[in-house]
Amino acid sequence: MTSPVMIKSAIDSVGEFSSVDMTNDPRWFIDFMDNANCLPDHEIINQRLVEVMAPLDYKRILEFGCGTGNDIRHLVEIYPEVSEIVGIDLSETMISEANSRTSNDSRIRFEQGDGKQLTFGDNIFDGARAKLVLMHCDDIDAALDELIRVVKTNGKIAVYDHDFDGLIIDHPNKNLTRKIVNDFSDKAKNSWSGRQLFSRFLRHGLINVTVESISVNLTFDLLRFMILGQKDINDIPLEEKLWWEELAAFQKKGCFFASFIGFLVVGTK
Ligand SMILES: C[S@@+](CC[C@H](N)C(=O)[O-])C[C@H]1O[C@@H](n2cnc3c(N)ncnc32)[C@H](O)[C@@H]1O
Repeated sequence: MTSPVMIKSAIDSVGEFSSVDMTNDPRWFIDFMDNANCLPDHEIINQRLVEVMAPLDYKRILEFGCGTGNDIRHLVEIYPEVSEIVGIDLSETMISEANSRTSNDSRIRFEQGDGKQLTFGDNIFDGARAKLVLMHCDDIDAALDELIRVVKTNGKIAVYDHDFDGLIIDHPNKNLTRKIVNDFSDKAKNSWSGRQLFSRFLRHGLINVTVESISVNLTFDLLRFMILGQKDINDIPLEEKLWWEELAAFQKKGCFFASFIGFLVVGTK
């Protein structure tokens, strides 16, 4: 008996970052992140992530949900003392891309793995970071427990996540905009992860916890990919299609504005 063929439908939002390899087109997520990482506000997030993790004498760092390893390649340059940066990611596609983009550097290692069941021993990293990852995890508390477990006492853990209800879009149709943002938010694994990070860190026993907000101004194309994924605009309800066309017209006139609120939280074990 032949096994049934599973037909994967088109990716229908960035909410599917929780299962990249199970989608019809895992490489779509690589392109998406490459585009997102080019946004100027991502520079600010990267810079603040480094600043909140100071001092710069880290020897071993864990980058949880490392994607294609962009940040790790940058980190080895920033941390002169570092002897090892390990990137883990649930997606084999991401890990294989991370390896192919990284030239031989004995300080960098990528591993495929689930953040809620890390294979590392206790207290081995000087610090751990997770950028835009916990919001996609199916069990944030388990993942945070693991991050805390593998970091040494006095080590720092820094996380940046968006808050999916904090997607701000300037559009004259307020009601439909609210509906579109709500529908988008409801597709995320953890739509309120951003706003919950501060209390979550405290609940997990971290100390010296601080929080700051950093919003990311979006381009029209990125907003479209975030909300519609690979969906054809002609396949969505007419009212929404017109909503997108109005937004595209603003884009043409140079008055498009959308921004995504996120929070950077750091705590000490
Ligand atoms: C939005 S991307 C961010 C990637 C990278 N941190 C960056 O900023 O470029 C989210 C990443 O988290 C990974 N991910 C999702 N759930 C995970 C889990 N439970 N454990 C490890 N990685 C996970 C995804 O495969 C994806 O590569």
